[in-house]
Amino acid sequence: MNNKIIIINGPNLNLLGEREQSQYGSTTYEKLKENCSKKGQEVGLEIDFAQSNIEGELVNIIQDARKKFDGMIINAAAFTHTSVAIRDALDLFKKPIIELHLSNIYKREEFRHKSLISDVVTGGIFGLGAEGYILAIISLQKTFQNENR
Ligand code: DQA
Repeated sequence: MNNKIIIINGPNLNLLGEREQSQYGSTTYEKLKENCSKKGQEVGLEIDFAQSNIEGELVNIIQDARKKFDGMIINAAAFTHTSVAIRDALDLFKKPIIELHLSNIYKREEFRHKSLISDVVTGGIFGLGAEGYILAIISLQKTFQNENR
């Protein structure tokens, strides 16, 4: 049976392709999902997607994911820098989590340099645009492969 992962995107990422293209690129949220699904099929991973602009909703999505998914890719967007609630929910997941940012948050305003979630995730990818999601999928697939050896 294929491993299942969830890709969670936080606030304003539904407007990808429209918002600040110089930071986030021209790939729309729909296209991003399509590209990720294709890669998932290629590597034999089932992928679900969730996006919300609401902090509590993201907490609920992360909590629910505990029972349903083997891994997670999360771009918590602005909540990365502010949300103890999302951090605490991620800490309960206990399976591989990749923190993702399209932009290089360390090259930007100082308030983006601090991530409240980095030390409760497995690893992170930032600054590689939409391609980062594809790399994160490949990385999770390799993790599962190694676990099953
Ligand atoms: C982001 C970086 C965050 O600082 C920002 O608030 C976002 C997107 C990124 O993908 O680069 O909304 O997470």
